[in-house]
Amino acid sequence: MKYPLRLGVNIDHVATIRNARGGGHPDPVRAARMAAQAGADGITAHLREDRRHISDEDILRLVEEIDLPLNLEMAATPEMLEIALRHRPHAACIVPERREERTTEGGLDAAGQMEQLRPFVGALREAGIRVSLFVEADPRQLDAAVALGAPVVELHTGAYCDAPAHLHGRELDRLAAAAAHADALGLECHAGHGLTFETVQPVAAIPTLVELNIGHFLIGEAIFGGLDSAIKRMRALMDQARAESTGERSA
Ligand code: PXP
Repeated sequence: MKYPLRLGVNIDHVATIRNARGGGHPDPVRAARMAAQAGADGITAHLREDRRHISDEDILRLVEEIDLPLNLEMAATPEMLEIALRHRPHAACIVPERREERTTEGGLDAAGQMEQLRPFVGALREAGIRVSLFVEADPRQLDAAVALGAPVVELHTGAYCDAPAHLHGRELDRLAAAAAHADALGLECHAGHGLTFETVQPVAAIPTLVELNIGHFLIGEAIFGGLDSAIKRMRALMDQARAESTGERSA
């Protein structure tokens, strides 16, 4: 079966730049609006416990002002669950979170934390929020997602993006095998973290992935050529790779 490939644009680091000076500029909600115009299929934002980038007010405004589906990345904590249930985003991606980390390092240990995660997945699902678990490309974690009743997994692409070039093939094989396993289990499969113009195409070519979530590189690249152009180029690279891998002609 052929799946279209969606692009979720993560706007966290627009807020990182804003927060460097306080005040309201640059506004991540304005970036979300531009992302929608440039062809993004969704907006992703991570409300961290320490509020280092996205704020509570940003989430409120994203829900109220942006028409694209919002994917709220959140740790499995009572505070974040309460916020998710209050705003009811389209989707919630449960991520591991350590206060001292620079970014989300590694995937969630769903297999090792079934009992802690079960009530969060259940409450989000009951509220009609599409739950995804951010996990490593490890079949045990995918089996755990099924056991927890999460309909979606997002594969962490950091190991692939950070690997030296000679190990890219091995990491891509792990991602492709995990995406195939997820598909066989009936899970919707997303991927993200660290993707760039250089690394996106082999991931986009994996036919059972339906969504890529990309942030830091796009916001950084926007400094040089603008957000609109960065998103359009990423979209074009993704579409080209997917069309070639599924034997369709590129539009
Ligand atoms: N997906 C998830 C679950 C993430 O936590 C992040 C980073 O917030 C991303 C995707 C995007 O990663 P990057 O900003 O490196 O593109």
